Amino acid sequence: MTMAALNGSLPLLSVADLSVRYGGRGTSPVHAVNGVTFTISKGETLGLIGESGSGKSTVARAVVGLQPATAGSIRLKGVEVWNQDAASQRAARSSVQIVFQNANEALDPRASIAVSVSEPLARRLLRRSSQAAEPARRALELVGLQPSLHERLPRELSGGQRQRASIARALVTSPELIICDEIVSALDVSVQAEIINLLIDLKQAQGISYLFISHDLGVVSNIADRIAVMYLGRLAEIGRSETVISRPAHPYTRALLASQPQAISRRHRTGEKPAVLSGAIPSPASPPSGCYFRTRCPMAVELCAEQPPEFREIHPGHWAACHFAEAVLS
Ligand SMILES: Nc1ncnc2c1ncn2[C@@H]1O[C@H](COP(=O)(O)OP(=O)(O)OP(=O)(O)O)[C@@H](O)[C@H]1O
Ligand code: SF4
Ligand SMILES: [Mg+2]
Repeated sequence: MTMAALNGSLPLLSVADLSVRYGGRGTSPVHAVNGVTFTISKGETLGLIGESGSGKSTVARAVVGLQPATAGSIRLKGVEVWNQDAASQRAARSSVQIVFQNANEALDPRASIAVSVSEPLARRLLRRSSQAAEPARRALELVGLQPSLHERLPRELSGGQRQRASIARALVTSPELIICDEIVSALDVSVQAEIINLLIDLKQAQGISYLFISHDLGVVSNIADRIAVMYLGRLAEIGRSETVISRPAHPYTRALLASQPQAISRRHRTGEKPAVLSGAIPSPASPPSGCYFRTRCPMAVELCAEQPPEFREIHPGHWAACHFAEAVLS
């Protein structure tokens, strides 16, 4: 065991140089995720933002083992998870759960929510599956669904209640990390706030960590301790939420903030108006040379086409992939 593990500083999740490629036989391969590195500590929420197609869900699917990584490493408390034997993989599946935007992906339309919520634990308990009913009831109560609702079918619940049930299903195996992939995007703003508050309460009560994925910076800034920004399969920036929002070091983050000014609290507004993002995200099957953001970057110069920027630490804990990050900050 390393010193870091002994003194408890080992991250809960450690993703290093993760790459995921789709297709390839007969079609151009899509490099959906390219050399992504981040950690999540126990009890921490990492927000992951980026436009549609930037690779957020692919990262999520790789972390939970639904999508094989092409390269890189995914470690839970220092242990490589998806190259392990079946027993270690089962343990990892219990420790890391995922909740999707569409609650119907997790809930069986023909089964009561109590049955759907008990299912991941019942599968783990095999012949003792009847013992999953009580933990399922507790998980449903924990997410604020009263016993009178437990026997209902998913279609007999509101959208917010269905999303609560899918969070209960994720909770039933007592995970340490829950990945939330756009879980509030389809909900009304008031219901969004209720679900975010529920996640915050669960984190405080149970010490759960989250990877919270959304394209909405405002939502992410309400829950995340740190924010990672993805562009075209790569990390553009990562840092404390306050820092990334008030002092972004990457032109892409600045542009995202300019396109979602409601995400910036009054305290962080500078009065300056950076360029709003224009143009489409290029195809990951044929990304630009050098810096992937250069075709849309207002600061791009010749060097940006020639040399990919290194993902480097600008200040302690604040990383960005831009040749001119210091100038962006100033
Ligand atoms: N199964 C697949 N086969 C081929 N390409 C895929 C597959 N899934 C995703 N992709 C491609 O990989 C890239 C990243 O997709 P991904 O779904 O991870 O993005 P995202 O950031 O989650 O987007 P969104 O915000 O729309 O959910 C996209 O170009 C997408 O078209
Ligand atoms: S490296 Fe160049 S193109 Fe890329 S974000 Fe920085 S300034 Fe823009
Ligand atoms: Mg997605």
